[in-house]
Amino acid sequence: MVTRKRVSPAVTDQPDSDLANGKPRSSRLIRTAAVTIGLLIAIVVAFVIIRVVVDWPSILDGTDPDDDFAERYVDNPWRAYLHIGPGLVYLLGAPLQLSRRFRARHYTVHRRLGRVLLACALLGATFALLFGIPLAWGGAGESVATVVFGCWFIACLVLAFRAIRRDDVPQHRRWMIRAFAVGVGIGTIRIWVGIFEGIEQAMSGGTTPTAPDPTMFAIAFWLAFTMHVAIGEWWLRRTPALSG
Ligand code: HEM
Repeated sequence: MVTRKRVSPAVTDQPDSDLANGKPRSSRLIRTAAVTIGLLIAIVVAFVIIRVVVDWPSILDGTDPDDDFAERYVDNPWRAYLHIGPGLVYLLGAPLQLSRRFRARHYTVHRRLGRVLLACALLGATFALLFGIPLAWGGAGESVATVVFGCWFIACLVLAFRAIRRDDVPQHRRWMIRAFAVGVGIGTIRIWVGIFEGIEQAMSGGTTPTAPDPTMFAIAFWLAFTMHVAIGEWWLRRTPALSG
């Protein structure tokens, strides 16, 4: 049996952001990122609650919901909730894993929790493809976005796992940050959908749309995920950890 040497990130991966490029640690940047991530996760949690409240009475009663948007979730509960449930667990646990303080203090927990969250993220992403390709509200535009960013999300997770198997902590950190940047983009999709619905409402003289416009929904996917991939790359340049 090969015995793997585990090196604590407290030793090898210390500067998440301190002394990046010789600059002093930017705690304000980290605070801003933490608050933004907190808000995005809160948005996702709110939409998970809305889904559960709207879908589950119909799923349990075997009845059809009133709106077409919800019907896809009610008619395909396994696909939908094997995406949403594990995805939510990943999204709630990942910020803890990315916290340098948490890793340094609880490295064993970081490793164990990491395996659970990795499994949840892969499961959630697989069901994102199984739900999002055939059943996308936003049609082909959303399906293609789901394939592009869903596969990118899975690739980042797999590469992060491979990196840590060879004890390459800086590369592990980089790929996990890339994956998280995509995952938390789900909250930004909802912000774009809200903006588009606001514009639609204003243009139609105040009528509240019952469901998002499909084209706008697809555009929201592309805008949010592209932004998040770019921001992830920017973050990695701004906060290179050692040689990572
Ligand atoms: C990582 C954590 C994730 C969480 C917590 C999550 C959560 C959710 C939620 C709550 C919905 C329902 C949306 C609504 O009612 O407005 C949803 C739908 C969906 N998600 Fe995710 N998601 C995650 C990641 C992803 C990823 C990485 C992809 C692929 C790029 C993805 C693709 C989709 C698709 C295609 C839908 C269906 C949208 C529709 O047409 O109704 N999700 N997700």
